[in-house]
Amino acid sequence: MKLKTTYYCQNCGAQYSKWMGQCSACKQWNTIVEEVVSKKDPQSPIKKNLSKLLKLNQIDTNKEYRIATGNDELDRVLGGGIVPGSVILLGGEPGIGKSTLMLQIALQLPRQTLYISGEESPKQIRMRAERIGINNENMKLLFETNTQKILHVLYEENPDIVVIDSIQTLHTDLIESSAGSISQIRETASEIIQYAKQTNTPVFIIGHINKEGQIAGPKILEHMVDTVLQFEGDRNHLFRILRAQKNRFGSTHEIGIFEMYNKGLRQIKNPSKLLLTSHETELSGTVIAVAMEGIRPLLVEVQALVGTAVYGTPQRTTTGYDIKRLHMILAVLEKRMGIKLSTKDVFLNITGGIRIDDPAIDMAVAMAILSSNNDLPVPASWAFAGELGLTGEVRPVTRIEQRISEAEKLGFERIFVSKHNKINPNDFQIEINQIAEIKGLKILV
Ligand code: TYD
Ligand code: MG
Repeated sequence: MKLKTTYYCQNCGAQYSKWMGQCSACKQWNTIVEEVVSKKDPQSPIKKNLSKLLKLNQIDTNKEYRIATGNDELDRVLGGGIVPGSVILLGGEPGIGKSTLMLQIALQLPRQTLYISGEESPKQIRMRAERIGINNENMKLLFETNTQKILHVLYEENPDIVVIDSIQTLHTDLIESSAGSISQIRETASEIIQYAKQTNTPVFIIGHINKEGQIAGPKILEHMVDTVLQFEGDRNHLFRILRAQKNRFGSTHEIGIFEMYNKGLRQIKNPSKLLLTSHETELSGTVIAVAMEGIRPLLVEVQALVGTAVYGTPQRTTTGYDIKRLHMILAVLEKRMGIKLSTKDVFLNITGGIRIDDPAIDMAVAMAILSSNNDLPVPASWAFAGELGLTGEVRPVTRIEQRISEAEKLGFERIFVSKHNKINPNDFQIEINQIAEIKGLKILV
């Protein structure tokens, strides 16, 4: 028998009929791999259930029903608890705490939970459970990676909640290629999702993330599940941030903050701690901007140092920020606010070694320069999100609600945004200052 094979990009999951050096979808080199995809048995037992037709009014819309996990941070990120029958992908780098979080949830839920592990031995999991310190008779453990066997147990046991650790270890008999390959991930995930939908059982699927920050393997996995949660470290790696990248049952603006300690993960209810650790004293020239990195907000620290030029020509240096943009902002400050900067050295740095191209940090850059120039600190509890135009106007930026809620969640007291961003300040707890022109910043420093 000739095996049917297809070529998949291991980075983005794009499918090709022949091998190529570069994936035309994600532009990565040497990521296309041949996989055997022939299905051995199309009449698999799990697909036997007959589908039935429904009228819209026969569908139960009592969707308010949610299972509270008992972990407020997770519940909030999920949009108020777990929706029955939903499939939640939990992604994160190895060692970030995905297994710990899921085990903790499985242990503390007063329900029949089934933790399926292909990563760690039952002994390792027991040791971790002892460390977390919760003893739950209702939690069962299954050490298995074959989805046919897993589904057999699932239909037999009928648990209330299922955790799968991790999708990359699963393999189905229906596909020949090895565990962790694109076609295996796609097929095993679809079998699990089918189970979740048929039995209305919520399933958490853990997925590892590759170095580019994507769920290793297919992006298609993200389209298949209902919710994608991302577990990541903050800039200083003191805390863990859980955020929804996609959520069919809630907003993607919520974040949950945790701290890893010796008994698992602890919820951080007062996130301003996050900021205070790095800002013991207020320094001039340091301003926080709410930038976007892709679709997620990122708080960045902008540092400026303005000093009298010692040599003839003043120096302008940036790290992590476009030098042309700095020149433009200096020109705007000079022309629209009358601040003499042409004889000054200006150094600008985005801390944390990251590069930001989001123009929304302009206002923070201008503010940092003003603050350093006047040697007056800007309160560490303030955040900024606005673009500057040549006329000195503060221009609106994208996803403003998301930026404002992120600043609010992280404990900032005040955020400065453009007057032209349409928002309702009553929707937020954080104080919102709407600025029309760069001149409006003058009173601040
Ligand atoms: P883990 O949940 O295994 O990460 P992942 O599943 O995302 O790969 O977390 C592993 C790290 O967490 C490991 O370095 C040990 C640490 N840890 C603690 O600090 N305290 C604890 O109570 C536990 C269980 C783990
Ligand atoms: Mg793990």
